[in-house]
Amino acid sequence: MNRFSGVNALVTGAGSGIGRATVLRLVSEGAAVFAVDRDETGLAETAECAVGNPGRIETGVVDVTDEEQVIATVAIAAERLGGIEVLINVAGIQRTTPIETLSVKDMRELFEVNTIGTALFCREALRHLPDGVGVIVNVASTAADHGNPYMSAYAASKGAVLALSKTLAAELVGRGIRVVPVSPGNTATPLTAAVSPGDLDFSYFDRVRSLLGTAQPEQIAAAIAFAASPDASYFTGAELRVDGGSHT
Ligand SMILES: NC(=O)c1ccc[n+]([C@@H]2O[C@H](COP(=O)([O-])OP(=O)(O)OC[C@H]3O[C@@H](n4cnc5c(N)ncnc54)[C@H](O)[C@@H]3O)[C@@H](O)[C@H]2O)c1
Repeated sequence: MNRFSGVNALVTGAGSGIGRATVLRLVSEGAAVFAVDRDETGLAETAECAVGNPGRIETGVVDVTDEEQVIATVAIAAERLGGIEVLINVAGIQRTTPIETLSVKDMRELFEVNTIGTALFCREALRHLPDGVGVIVNVASTAADHGNPYMSAYAASKGAVLALSKTLAAELVGRGIRVVPVSPGNTATPLTAAVSPGDLDFSYFDRVRSLLGTAQPEQIAAAIAFAASPDASYFTGAELRVDGGSHT
């Protein structure tokens, strides 16, 4: 497939996991990608993995919570690529904390990275996305609309990403710009590897495990690429849930 030949894409969270897999999928299909993350080492690894593909990659270090950095990064991406047709917001963090010990610091961090970071990139990229062509894909989570114990603030921040995406889809449909929230289920990445039950009772999660096993980042990237591609030209505002049937 060569669905992204001649397409310029900006991808956040590109230094690891789902973001890296997304970049690799896009360059394998011919895209020119501006890949950003706060992790410079991770970005360099992503760029190394991308070598030999038909597309090309440039990288930029950014903290998605820093408004000035986001403004500058999107402008640089547009200049280096010669425009932006696709924005994919993948950068995110997770915390596993019972409500009794949830701190304001954790709540703020989750919303700043997952929700505000996503909204800032949408706002800035919209200056460049062409009418009738532009696409935004925002990575939410199954936690956005299904209860996951100990993830209250994470889930709320992702519920906000879902609401933001649906609102933007309605706001921009007249311009022919699509906005698709993609909600992965449990996926094997450093983010989930860092979660440890400790003293917490994780038995609830046995009820919502996919019989297909844990997703690989490449399986989520394939869905993100579909959402960003012309194959999804009539798909906007609806949540694309990629959870192996765990939450049906
Ligand atoms: N792994 C899962 O099971 C799962 C499930 C549902 C949703 N998600 C979502 O998918 C997205 C990607 O997660 P992943 O599993 O690949 O995790 P990951 O930890 O492998 O990757 C997340 C990336 O985001 C970057 N990042 C974090 N904060 C940042 C900031 N302030 N500025 C710039 N970059 C920042 C990290 O450096 C990292 O490279 C996240 O939004 C996550 O919430 C993951």
